[in-house]
Amino acid sequence: MFDIKPVSDVIGAEVSGADLAEVDDAAFDEIQLAWMEHCVLLFRDQKIDAGELVAFSKRFGELDIAPPNENGEGGFGGFSEVLVLSNVKENGKAIGALGNAEAQWHTDMNYLDKPPTGSVLLSVEVPDKGGDTGFSNMYRALEDLPSSIRQRVEGLKIKHDSSTNSGGYLREGAEPVTDVTTCPGAIHPIIRTHPETGRKALYLGRRRSAYIMGMSLEGSELLLDELWAHASQPKYAWHHQWRIGDVVIWDNRCSMHRRDSFDDSKRRIMHRTQIMGDRPF
Ligand code: OGA
Ligand code: MN
Repeated sequence: MFDIKPVSDVIGAEVSGADLAEVDDAAFDEIQLAWMEHCVLLFRDQKIDAGELVAFSKRFGELDIAPPNENGEGGFGGFSEVLVLSNVKENGKAIGALGNAEAQWHTDMNYLDKPPTGSVLLSVEVPDKGGDTGFSNMYRALEDLPSSIRQRVEGLKIKHDSSTNSGGYLREGAEPVTDVTTCPGAIHPIIRTHPETGRKALYLGRRRSAYIMGMSLEGSELLLDELWAHASQPKYAWHHQWRIGDVVIWDNRCSMHRRDSFDDSKRRIMHRTQIMGDRPF
């Protein structure tokens, strides 16, 4: 029904010919299959509002209520499932989360016991340059992991700190981490199995304040640095330059993403939903 073309050798495909405001069961099945194959899908030139974004996202499963932004506010246009990401300020107050700064490689909300399966991001306003979003393939990163490292991480788990968001901002009510070995966090396997494809992927979450359970602090830091140096190699990534009306859906179970910084005098407004997930295994 659709034309589906990879956007890189390593991750992502563009789906042409889809109107996300009107996705029937057959169309959804094709989209779902392509998503499982490519981890990230791009749909261009969509004319959908927040309600249609929510309706499309719900085809993939129940949605989370959007987490609050740095001002403690969540939702958009009456839809509590929509998270606004933006640097735009109205009356001196940010209308969305994440500002204009770089967001380093991460998967969404890895610090929860049940992180979201995936996220759907719609571009509403974008700067003419900057603010690109990169996606990297964590199946590939695991397949290529040198066996010397793979043997050491097999069976190990990371404790994922929740005190800061991907922009490095301290979350509302969070205590800054002073000791990663004792701070609270969700504990997930470093090698996880994708529940739908059955394939194994590297699951790192985010580097800051991570800790590999059962290791000395020094041992954990060294191994995490090795894993991150491997996983963040450019060969695993594709970077998307946004146009208005783009919708991208990514799978947090087999990919990471990051965002470039952009000029704060330019406006960037994105609407995101997130699909409820299960405990990684
Ligand atoms: C996110 C995210 C990056 C972006 O929505 O989880 O990391 O490009 N967004 O805004
Ligand atoms: Mn994110």
